[in-house]
Amino acid sequence: MIVTEILFFVALFMAIKLLWQQRRFLYLASKIPKSNFDFSLKGIYKFLTADSKELFEMSYGSFNDTEGTVKTWLGHVLMVIIGNPEDVKIVMKSKDCIDKPKFMKFFRAPDGVLFGDYEPWHAHRKILNPYFNVQGVKAFIPIFNEKSKKLMKCIKSVEGSGEFDVFYYLTALALETVMKVMEYDKEIINTGSENREAYVKYLRDFLKSVSLRIFKPWLHPDIFYQQTKTYQEEQEALKQTALKFSAEILENIRNKSKNGDNNEHKSKSFMRELTQSNLNENEINDEIRTLMVAAQDTTALSSSSILLLLAMYKDIQVKVVAELHQVFGKTHEVPYIDHDQLNQLQYLELVMNEAMRLTPVVPIVFRLANDELTLSDGSKIPKGSNIIIPIHRIQRNKKFWGDDAEQFRPDRFEKENLEKIHPYAFIPFTKGSRMCLGYRYAMTLMKIQLSNFLLRYEVDTTLKFEELEYELNTTMNICQGYMISIKKREL
Ligand code: HEM
Repeated sequence: MIVTEILFFVALFMAIKLLWQQRRFLYLASKIPKSNFDFSLKGIYKFLTADSKELFEMSYGSFNDTEGTVKTWLGHVLMVIIGNPEDVKIVMKSKDCIDKPKFMKFFRAPDGVLFGDYEPWHAHRKILNPYFNVQGVKAFIPIFNEKSKKLMKCIKSVEGSGEFDVFYYLTALALETVMKVMEYDKEIINTGSENREAYVKYLRDFLKSVSLRIFKPWLHPDIFYQQTKTYQEEQEALKQTALKFSAEILENIRNKSKNGDNNEHKSKSFMRELTQSNLNENEINDEIRTLMVAAQDTTALSSSSILLLLAMYKDIQVKVVAELHQVFGKTHEVPYIDHDQLNQLQYLELVMNEAMRLTPVVPIVFRLANDELTLSDGSKIPKGSNIIIPIHRIQRNKKFWGDDAEQFRPDRFEKENLEKIHPYAFIPFTKGSRMCLGYRYAMTLMKIQLSNFLLRYEVDTTLKFEELEYELNTTMNICQGYMISIKKREL
């Protein structure tokens, strides 16, 4: 009898506690203003049936053009959208906002450094950090040079033959590059356009299916999602790319280690450290897949956007090339680009930053609030909220960037102009402890690629910046493609 009574009171206490916690959550959530999301029947229907392009437009539209915080509900899931750089800083610096929301497991690499919670993230990042700092990335420069040269050879076939989508070349190259960094030399870019495009398509399909799933809460439970065609496509895409390649990479490194292969990278290889650490098989595989995906689409899309913008703004292209000629001389080819030369490409860096401001390849990032969070105006975000940081919205907001925020103006990144901008209003790689691991890798690789490309070719396009449309496929893509034409530059 006493036991029953005790159990009854424990259950009652738990229920009251749960209710109390929920009350606080709902109370704080109710204080956050609503987003512009259209909650009419028509609006909800549109959202439920949205494709990647509509999803981008809707998410962009519902992130209100204010510097404030707004909320939206995806079913029972609360999304809090942070629009003010000062509050972005609070989130990114908070030890309570290190984890990612649960739906990040949809990326199928829960033990990798990009999508993982505090553990395994913390342990993995500790292993990887030294290989991606200034010295670590210096060791990759020979690979970046070799692969950029290969790109130039490959791209020769489309010289003078009208517009083509440069992304298909750059993404194949980005995949080859990251694989070589993982000590696996695989031929992709020269496999013929059919194969090349198939690799791109599989990764694209995968990223697209995940982003659609995140925004459609009824697809969150595996049991429902597994009944969909998207799930079948996602599984096929994974099998053909990430799973296949990570298995090849792992087998290759294990064979090399077994055969006592002491190549020149041995002392600098994070792959060897990963495979010899105490990480389990799942963790190693997830990490390989994470790095492949994180390094491929992002660098390829960014380089493609930069080339497209330079093709649109020929006066800026002329200035970039003048700097390249100053550093490398008037030539169509540089034999090798070294670290010191890269540091001299200051104007190119302004252009890259401005392109990443207007067309950030990662348009939104997510965090999970593991505790109540107080924002700069004293308002609170409830514990358990999923936080969205709309990078693309913040980086084009006139309140932070001035009336010409929608214009391509690289000189806004000159030191004296940048001083007027909030440091957290420009976050293509984000900031804080979960900032992009591959930031230096990306900037170095892109500078080498772009230098090779622009020394050799003049780039042109018929596309206009104002006419560009975007879609959300985890990364932000230009719907019209990265259509440029190239002709040999006159010296
Ligand atoms: C232009 C190219 C790139 C862009 C714009 C970019 C952007 C980003 C962004 C926005 C994040 C999310 C950070 C957050 O959640 O706060 C991220 C995370 C990450 N990126 Fe990149 N990235 C790029 C290239 C790369 C490359 C080349 C690599 C690897 C070689 C890489 C590896 C990672 C990893 C491992 C993370 C997870 C970091 C963590 O959670 O600790 N990224 N990146």
